[in-house]
Amino acid sequence: MFAVGSDHGGLELKQAICKLLDERKLNYEDYGTGNSESVDYPDFGARVAQAVSAGTVQAGVLVCGTGIGMSIIANKYPGVRAALVHDEFTAQMAREHNNANILVLGGRIVSVDQGVKLVKVWLDSQFEGGRHQNRLDKIAAAEQRLQKS
Ligand code: RB5
Repeated sequence: MFAVGSDHGGLELKQAICKLLDERKLNYEDYGTGNSESVDYPDFGARVAQAVSAGTVQAGVLVCGTGIGMSIIANKYPGVRAALVHDEFTAQMAREHNNANILVLGGRIVSVDQGVKLVKVWLDSQFEGGRHQNRLDKIAAAEQRLQKS
């Protein structure tokens, strides 16, 4: 199960990503926004990040104008590893090295076709584990320490 979300700046790309998930018969919930009216990206990023953090969904995709705001809000949530990617290499690395559980895209940065392609690369890549798992463990440990302080 996936969660998708965007603000108005990411709406068109998010709709194309939903189409991709439909084509691949992957279940997802669209947490909004649903129209082109100007909205605040943290409201939508928080919904998707909360669902990933709580384990309600396995992963998510967030889109705003640049992807920056969505990355900032999503990475506030425990256990979330949100990666803003702009090209095929970073989309692949986001999975292989960082095991990103939220892919973030900038709807005003990449074209709709390129954005959909980046989601495909992320979906089709595999986490490599090994030394990369050690690094993710260190991130999780830091998160634990910060929560306690
Ligand atoms: C909205 O205008 C824009 O600020 C938002 O989509 C995003 O780019 C924020 O990081």
